[in-house]
Amino acid sequence: MEKRVLSGIQPSGRFHLGNYFSMIKPMIEYQKKNKIFCFIVNLHALTSVQSGDLLRKQTFESALDLLALGLDPEKNIFWVQNDVNEIMELTWYLSCVTPKGLLERCHSYKDKVAKGIPASHGLFSYPVLMAADILLYQGEIIPVGKDQKQHVEVTRDIAIKFNNTYGEVFKLPEPEISEDTGIIPGIDGQKMSKSYNNTIDIFAEKTELKKQIMSIVTDSKAVEDPKNPDESILLAIMQFFVSEEEFNDWKTRFWNGGTGYGETKKYLLEIINNYFTPFREKREEYSKDRELVLRILRNGADKAREIAMVTLNEVRKRVGTKYY
Ligand code: TRP
Repeated sequence: MEKRVLSGIQPSGRFHLGNYFSMIKPMIEYQKKNKIFCFIVNLHALTSVQSGDLLRKQTFESALDLLALGLDPEKNIFWVQNDVNEIMELTWYLSCVTPKGLLERCHSYKDKVAKGIPASHGLFSYPVLMAADILLYQGEIIPVGKDQKQHVEVTRDIAIKFNNTYGEVFKLPEPEISEDTGIIPGIDGQKMSKSYNNTIDIFAEKTELKKQIMSIVTDSKAVEDPKNPDESILLAIMQFFVSEEEFNDWKTRFWNGGTGYGETKKYLLEIINNYFTPFREKREEYSKDRELVLRILRNGADKAREIAMVTLNEVRKRVGTKYY
């Protein structure tokens, strides 16, 4: 039987190249051979977005983005997390078998708190909700960014704990990290992340895209100076958009000197812009048909719920909340 591929994405603002290469593109590729389960995790987003209007807007825009980028809602299951709100019931069952220490060890939680995000109970138990996302639908292959790998491992631990307590119910998921091209850096060389304010956004207007690309950090070498390609953020980003052959060419040009950062940035702008232009047009189309998008999401939630209920009914029996 084909393995079930599942992943969620936070509607926490505009998607950037980091989101695209770590999760969105691998999922889109997967749908060529597997039926994928893809959802917008609006409940997770509440740990950072605390305005109803903003969450509503971002949820809808994320749906537009994913559809525009090629997610096929007919062949796959695409929905908004809380539209199958049975997720919260499973979250509670899992919470009750999750050791507190397991959550205390999560890097993502510690990093967020270190960055000044208030340590709410929601932020702390975020991985339990994520485990419920995966286990409710019996996801097996979970394409995620490197930063989420630990959360998938926590999901396995929680699943094992549950299975040991109540008998085998859950399959154990595997994280899948796209290692081939590595992590795309942000414009300052750190990991690309909205909270670091160093992103290049997929659907930025051309002038804004230009601004973001022009602010990619470089050193002060002159045009004629030889440059180490392995130290260049520009080339680290370019690598994701050009063939290996062309990339090697650029490396040589950097070593030889005579290639300036200005012209490299201009080229990078052009290839990134060209790459996303067809998607931009598709996004325009979807954004004109709000009803269609809402229908797609509603349909997706119906399909998702059908599968969720099989798991949840079994879990209710095992834990005894189904007492009749
Ligand atoms: N925590 C993930 C992130 O921020 C999003 C997410 C929520 C997720 N539930 C999931 C990813 C289930 C994979 C599977 O990137």
